[in-house]
Amino acid sequence: MNEITNFLKKRRSVTAKSMNAGHVPLDHLNEILDCGLRVPDHGALNPWKLNVIQGDARKRIGAQIFAKQYKLLNPDASNEDLLYEENRLERASIVIAVVCTPVNHPKIPAWEMELSSGAVCSNLLIAAQSLGYAAQWLTEWYSYNEEVLKEFGGDPKTDKIAGFIYIGNKQKEPIERRRPIKNKIINFIDK
Ligand SMILES: Cc1cc2nc3c(=O)[nH]c(=O)nc-3n(C[C@H](O)[C@H](O)[C@H](O)COP(=O)(O)O)c2cc1C
Repeated sequence: MNEITNFLKKRRSVTAKSMNAGHVPLDHLNEILDCGLRVPDHGALNPWKLNVIQGDARKRIGAQIFAKQYKLLNPDASNEDLLYEENRLERASIVIAVVCTPVNHPKIPAWEMELSSGAVCSNLLIAAQSLGYAAQWLTEWYSYNEEVLKEFGGDPKTDKIAGFIYIGNKQKEPIERRRPIKNKIINFIDK
């Protein structure tokens, strides 16, 4: 056991709903981004793009993209619902949108590039949590919306949003959640 495994065994996400928006200093943000990019990546193809949504962009994207798309999908949405969409990204100090951008490769399937994008999300999440931030990996409805994907530089023909990593301040320490029962999941193969 060491500091890293001890942390990994105990780390928890804090829901975007229960975090406070604050400030992430640039050195912390860079640390988080460096960890996010340091992931296994078959063929070193870098099949991902990161969008760091901060400051006024949180409100702009909420109003111009999320609320508008939500209204198109839900014509009967209430003003309260639309306001929620408008303010969605402002739940956090910073939100990192991770887009999987697979390339055509003769040997490496797109699936592996998608897995690598998940690893980017995981590393961003874990790095932010290790620095003491509240952080959560969310997809929600807007990860599956073409206009949202385009806003973040994705091509709907090939690309997908792997997730939005919300990073903010904790109001309180999260409580533990139900964890997998090891022997139901892990099969040791000895012979
Ligand atoms: C790809 C992915 C997408 C997720 N999307 C959502 C979501 O849309 N809404 C939600 O409530 N939780 C979502 N979650 C789960 C949250 O991240 C949740 O906080 C997490 O499972 C808590 O686990 P942890 O404390 O072990 O990090 C998602 C998780 C993953 C891996």
